[in-house]
Amino acid sequence: MLAVYFDQPGGPENLYLKDVAKPVPGPGEVLLRVAASALNRADVLQRRGQYSPPAGASSILGLEASGHVAEVGPGCQGPWREGLPAMALLAGGGQAEYVAVPEGHLMPVPHGLTLTQAAAIPEAWLTAFQLLHVVGRVKAGDTVLIHAGSSGVGTAAVQLARQAGAVPLVTAGSQDKIAAVEKLGATAGFNYREGDFSVATLEFTQGAGANIILDCIGGSYWEKNVACLAPDGRWVLYGLLGGAEVHGELLSKLLAKRGSLLTSLLRSRDKKYKAELVAAFTRQILPYFDQTKPRALRPVVDTVYPLRQVADAHAYMEQNKNLGKIVLEVASGP
Ligand SMILES: NC(=O)c1ccc[n+]([C@@H]2O[C@H](COP(=O)([O-])OP(=O)(O)OC[C@H]3O[C@@H](n4cnc5c(N)ncnc54)[C@H](OP(=O)(O)O)[C@@H]3O)[C@@H](O)[C@H]2O)c1
Repeated sequence: MLAVYFDQPGGPENLYLKDVAKPVPGPGEVLLRVAASALNRADVLQRRGQYSPPAGASSILGLEASGHVAEVGPGCQGPWREGLPAMALLAGGGQAEYVAVPEGHLMPVPHGLTLTQAAAIPEAWLTAFQLLHVVGRVKAGDTVLIHAGSSGVGTAAVQLARQAGAVPLVTAGSQDKIAAVEKLGATAGFNYREGDFSVATLEFTQGAGANIILDCIGGSYWEKNVACLAPDGRWVLYGLLGGAEVHGELLSKLLAKRGSLLTSLLRSRDKKYKAELVAAFTRQILPYFDQTKPRALRPVVDTVYPLRQVADAHAYMEQNKNLGKIVLEVASGP
């Protein structure tokens, strides 16, 4: 089968399609014939040699995919049968013609969505669901400040926060991105290039601050984050786009707020945890993706590339051009 490959870590130009062995589904696994897979920042980091796949995971890029079940491995107990459409959370391997997936990591494709749209759901939405509901314990009325509000994860988190009855505020690097995310349900947005988002957050909340901050930026934002965190607030760190270094009195400032700094990584979680997360998301959230219902949740797809243009897709993401997800179509063939 064809798969996205690179021989040396480096720039997008290192990516190419290689003929590799088709995976064989092991016990409890299903083989998915991939129709589409979406891009994530983790793919960019892995390509640069800055993020190794967890032990036992495929070294092929791709943390999410949609397609049809091609084969059901031995010992599967679930409802999956050959030919059924599905979308899957992956530890790797999605940017290929086939991928083997633990059966518990598959989900049905929501009513009214294409396989291309469905490919944009698993990694971004399960991450946002985990950050808000499992780690951040969001409740109605909470103010949730979501950094990189126009990212794949951000566009999911805004919709899920709104659905939970919380008040989503976002940061983003352009007015266009803020306007688009406000249309998705953000109550207000702050352009971090033009002003101090912590001042804007405190102004907006009349001094109360954010009860939850979803932070994939890290180092460059720490001081502003702690400045606009509400007393007893939860600051959920899940990425380091702004670096990992902290210089200053983080601990005293955090202690003064009785704030909690929580961290979260989905990819390195074990199979059982992921299966339980997928089951909870399928039960609690997936019904709200039904496109025949008013105010349905929806994955935001920015751009669709054929798999053979994977290098262009990486370059586009690295330039921060996407608003929502970048999808790679696989089945249409290279
Ligand atoms: N922990 C986990 O389990 C987990 C899972 C999935 C993703 N993640 C993390 O979540 C983040 C978003 O991933 P994604 O794939 O959804 O991203 P994405 O769609 O590529 O969006 C990332 C956006 O972040 C903004 N950004 C980039 N560098 C920035 C900086 N230095 N300061 C401020 N904003 C910056 C850019 O938008 P602007 O134009 O607004 O600057 C960019 O478009 C990444 O950090 C990723 O590693 C973590």
